[in-house]
Amino acid sequence: MRALLDHPVHSLDFVKVTESAALSASRWMGRGERDAADAAAVEKMREALGEMEIAGRIVIGEGERDEAPMLYIGEEVGAGGKEVDIAVDPVEGTNLVANGLPNAIAVMAIAERGGLLHAPDTYMKKLAVGARAAPYVHIDAPVRENLEAVANALEKPINDVCVIILDRPRHADLIAEVRAAGARIRLISDGDVDACIATAIDSTGVHVAMGTGGAPEGVLAAAAIKCLGGNFMGRLQPRNETERQRAVEMGLGDVGRVLELNDLVRSNDVIFCATGITDGDLVRGVRFFGNHARTHSILVHSSGTVRFIESTHRLAARPHGR
Ligand code: FBP
Repeated sequence: MRALLDHPVHSLDFVKVTESAALSASRWMGRGERDAADAAAVEKMREALGEMEIAGRIVIGEGERDEAPMLYIGEEVGAGGKEVDIAVDPVEGTNLVANGLPNAIAVMAIAERGGLLHAPDTYMKKLAVGARAAPYVHIDAPVRENLEAVANALEKPINDVCVIILDRPRHADLIAEVRAAGARIRLISDGDVDACIATAIDSTGVHVAMGTGGAPEGVLAAAAIKCLGGNFMGRLQPRNETERQRAVEMGLGDVGRVLELNDLVRSNDVIFCATGITDGDLVRGVRFFGNHARTHSILVHSSGTVRFIESTHRLAARPHGR
């Protein structure tokens, strides 16, 4: 079977999908309208997916069919071709875009059929680290133990280790434990896909991501980490019986079990790409100049190839002031 990235047209087409979403979402930067930013990105992402030579099936998307008109879970996308499963988040960090804050990205992961976990729209406890610390951490280990393991693996004192955590009241104990262990913390208001991926890229200065965020975002982050090298572990945390039941229906069996990287991303033929909407640790945000816009994207494949792609797009003429 041909690997996903072996197809030269496909690999760039993947990036076009996240570029399209990022370009349209970026028009909404700072306008305080998170839903409008999301809707604009969803529409363009779906259009771009429609042009790809794939028989795609959305496994992580905008929600269930009855609540999402586009990119709903189970929707078939693409113009026909290789059968693939697709996880998308047209705007990861809708509040970040609405408020013009850093690290909003348009994201997509693609794998062969059955290659990505079908995660319900619930919460997931997460732990992510880069390649050097990967073998030494476990989601069930005490926080201090994991941080000491990371410090040893990186040959740093623990107070040089930087942990990224979503700033939520539910993380008060976690934050206290990290502080007590002596590590540094970067609190973020949103965007834990970007945060988890940052642990796998040396230049970001982020070494560990911990805490609870969206389960769909967990699968997307796991896909990126599988490609970049590193470790990601998760555990679903349904908020109620309906969410727990949904997880069972989606085939998760023991809902409370630890999900290792290979449970979240079963396939060894995976592509992850993300385009910056606002400036961030991984990629720069969309820049407009004259009648053009510039996008910056990351495209990674599970073979270990990492590409950063800068594209210039000619825009349709727009009236002044829009
Ligand atoms: P959206 O882009 O859907 O708004 O998600 C942003 C996000 O911060 C994710 O990165 C994160 O996984 C999740 O929300 C956390 O959920 P909550 O805001 O409910 O704590």
